[in-house]
Amino acid sequence: MRVLSLTCLLIAVCAIPAVLPQHEEKRNDRPIIGVLAQELKNPEPYGNSYIAASYVKTLESAGARVVPVMVNRPEEEYHQLFNSINGILLPGGAAHLMTSGYAKAANIFYKLALEANDKGDYFPVWGTCLGFEQLLVITSGENLLCRTNTSGVSLPLEFTQDATESKLFKDFPPDVMTSLATENITLNFHKWSISIENFTKSEELRTFYKILSTNTDGKIEFISTMEAYNYPVYGTQWHPEKNAFEWSQGYYPHTPSAIKMTFHMADFFVNEAKKNFHSFASKEEENKHLIYNHNPIFSGADGSSFIQKYYFD
Ligand SMILES: *[C@@H]1O[C@H](CO)[C@@H](O)[C@H](O)[C@H]1NC(C)=O
Ligand SMILES: *[C@@H]1O[C@H](CO)[C@@H](O)[C@H](O)[C@H]1NC(C)=O
Ligand SMILES: *[C@@H]1O[C@H](CO)[C@@H](O)[C@H](O)[C@H]1NC(C)=O
Repeated sequence: MRVLSLTCLLIAVCAIPAVLPQHEEKRNDRPIIGVLAQELKNPEPYGNSYIAASYVKTLESAGARVVPVMVNRPEEEYHQLFNSINGILLPGGAAHLMTSGYAKAANIFYKLALEANDKGDYFPVWGTCLGFEQLLVITSGENLLCRTNTSGVSLPLEFTQDATESKLFKDFPPDVMTSLATENITLNFHKWSISIENFTKSEELRTFYKILSTNTDGKIEFISTMEAYNYPVYGTQWHPEKNAFEWSQGYYPHTPSAIKMTFHMADFFVNEAKKNFHSFASKEEENKHLIYNHNPIFSGADGSSFIQKYYFD
């Protein structure tokens, strides 16, 4: 009996390597993620648009390279770029959600991403703060945001029941989930929010996005984290990147658990981008687009709330 069961065990063990590769998902371990630039409200000496370096560093910290997506470029250029990169991040900041170059480019990439995903070409989209609001406006086709008292407050997430089984959070270590739920480590830096009331009223929003967490300013309950039901589209009203990479305000959370959380958020999205297989036509094209062609400036020294910024013409 003993010999027999040992034989079975050996067969089983030997059989595994032959079976595994068929089940192993293909993965792109050299992901390149687009980060959308945005117009500067007032002309600054260094350029007309910018990307806060904290977004770039966050993605780089989890094993991605970054390509800046410039504003106000021809649609054709965005199509070409879309087919060259593995995901896009819409960062926070300040831009008009209907008329800005930021909004126009976000719309184009969002539509291309949904079309691609419908055809089995997995292309993830992330929105942070302004990017989160931009996703809501694109999905609903209208601006349903309301004013909240949330410009500069770190909060614990109030997770919904859907959070633990969500794509975004299901593989997070339990201690990171506990920190997110109990510590003030999600930084809110926004004047506008989507209230649960307006979200629920909108058929477009409630059928497209699953609410993963909410928060309140004491008066209005708003959505703080969401993911699309059927697409790799994700958004946080709060700022994962600031914990590790921004320093302008004393209340930014820099505790060990806050930094660890930043990394897990980045790790999640970079792994999403690894499921995409777009690539630049050549190494030369890739080199031409990578953010390494630009040098960030120490904008924090000039009073910017971003410690470093990439400026573009
Ligand atoms: C709902 O959206 C409208 C804009 O359509 C806005 O004026 C209103 O303040 C919002 N209300 C809440 C409670 O979010
Ligand atoms: C806004 O929230 C802060 C706490 O984050 C509070 O101190 C302040 O009184 C609030 N302001 C208003 C107008 O409610
Ligand atoms: C966390 O934020 C909540 C809500 O603003 C506040 O009541 C609480 O005192 C904060 N906790 C810490 C440890 O700062």
